[in-house]
Amino acid sequence: MSGDQTVPSRIQHLRRLREQARAGGGPANIARQHERGKLTARERLDLLLDENSFHELGGFVTHRSTEFGMDEKRYLGDGVVTGYGTINGRLVFVFSQDFTVLGGSLGRAHADKIVALMDMAIKNGAPVIGLNDSGGARIQEGVVSLGGYADIFLRNTLASGVVPQLSAVLGPCAGGAVYSPAITDFIVMVKDTSHMFVTGPDVVKTVTHEDVTFDELGGAGTHSRKSGVAHFATASEGEAMAVLRTLLSYLPQNNMDDPPTVPCADDPLRTDRDLDAIIPDEPNRPYDMRDVIRRVVDDGDFFEVHEHFAQNILVGFARLNGRSVGIVAQQPMVLAGVLDNDASIKAARFVRFCDCFNIPIVTFEDVPGFMPGLNQEHGGIIRNGAKLLYAYCEATVPKITVITRKAYGGAYDVMSSKHIRGDINYAWPTAEIAVMGPDGAVNIVFRRELAEADDPVARKAELVAEYRERFANPYVAASWGYIDDVIEPRDTRPRLISALEMLQNKRDTNPPKKHGNIPL
Ligand code: HXC
Repeated sequence: MSGDQTVPSRIQHLRRLREQARAGGGPANIARQHERGKLTARERLDLLLDENSFHELGGFVTHRSTEFGMDEKRYLGDGVVTGYGTINGRLVFVFSQDFTVLGGSLGRAHADKIVALMDMAIKNGAPVIGLNDSGGARIQEGVVSLGGYADIFLRNTLASGVVPQLSAVLGPCAGGAVYSPAITDFIVMVKDTSHMFVTGPDVVKTVTHEDVTFDELGGAGTHSRKSGVAHFATASEGEAMAVLRTLLSYLPQNNMDDPPTVPCADDPLRTDRDLDAIIPDEPNRPYDMRDVIRRVVDDGDFFEVHEHFAQNILVGFARLNGRSVGIVAQQPMVLAGVLDNDASIKAARFVRFCDCFNIPIVTFEDVPGFMPGLNQEHGGIIRNGAKLLYAYCEATVPKITVITRKAYGGAYDVMSSKHIRGDINYAWPTAEIAVMGPDGAVNIVFRRELAEADDPVARKAELVAEYRERFANPYVAASWGYIDDVIEPRDTRPRLISALEMLQNKRDTNPPKKHGNIPL
């Protein structure tokens, strides 16, 4: 310790305690953590927060447990570092579990620190970030740890829609412990080192006789591609922290705040001629909707959420003239951009997030309809499609839609149509807005005529062409006022920016209620 004689002994004692707290579970456990390819709780905070901005709270807290020799295993901080700091100069509250201390397990004191932090975040209107790395409920503390988890779940739920809640899962996350991150708004996982499951491979083997690896069951790949539990999967912890920082840059501090506006070097009046030719002549040929989005938004930056899950729909954040927007868009490159169970759920949650936090929603629509079939029906496409419908209907933030090509059937209604309070609805001249595509429509409407025709193939081609001419365009919808304007694709950026500015002070409310009953 410092032999500085000018420092009073009580202050020297304080410094020693601080050093002890910083040492976590000791050098051997820290070395093990590093060998596993993981950082320590404090190293993660250094990467996440602005330099020297972190202020720790509750660093002297210890557990009071005495069972199973626990009185011999007391660590300052009790396995979780909590406090506040800044990201890009903006206040955040953070907890970072320390796996080197009792496996980051959650006992009463550990839980109380997280609960206190969340209460403070709600009261002061700033985001909460949880860095999870824990063996779950501390076995030695029994039901008291279960109670601690439940206290956290309650805070997660009360904070939902009040302050943004972001979770990084950076180690094992088992049992009920997965449910705290699951209630939060976004989850980031790291390939190889993060796992989330309700029960581990051993229990799975006993109960269902399935042989699965940790990764198959609950790795970052599984949760970012198949289950949709994770919104981001990164190659390293450093990248995970960078994702959290970028994500926050689009979000307001709380539900009473507006998202931050950043200076914009990209000309708001910029047009893009290439957009005029981006839709292929052949109506069933795909094109990349990401390309459309990038050509329209500031500097081509589209921060995609859930990139690998339900890829037939794209969701993410971007900026238009420096203002945050949430983007929802069909991806014609995957399953023709059809709405299926996963796509509906993915987009519904995103729309609700944007609405909670005053982020305008821009929808790019090219949708052939809802996905037909036994699989989808049995999987609840009615219930799940209704989630998206409900989410768009209840959203009161500015809603702007651009129909680039297909807007068929119920999907036309769902995707932020004028009827469900879309504020500004544009269509490109290539838009086809009708109950169904020409082929299906002709088969139904002219079934008898086609059966009796001398040359059914030629007659059908004629009827399809006729139908396309009459219905597969934006002008019928525009004549009813369901489309505010048919715009040249090259003008999409300036038109969207102008509409957003016009809608800046939009006020709309839903009828007073306790809460609605979204079809879960
Ligand atoms: C107390 C725990 C612990 C726990 C780990 N440790 N989990 N201590 N309670 N839940 C301790 C270990 O004893 C060990 O202490 C140290 O942390 C590191 O653990 P290891 O096992 O050596 O590490 P590793 O090999 O990496 O394995 C990590 C692990 C494994 C996969 C997380 O420890 C494990 O399976 N733990 C139990 C997971 C679990 O079932 N938790 C309860 C889930 S139910 P020493 O002193 O040896 O260093 C739950 C209910 C939530 O959480 C309720 C909400 C509804």
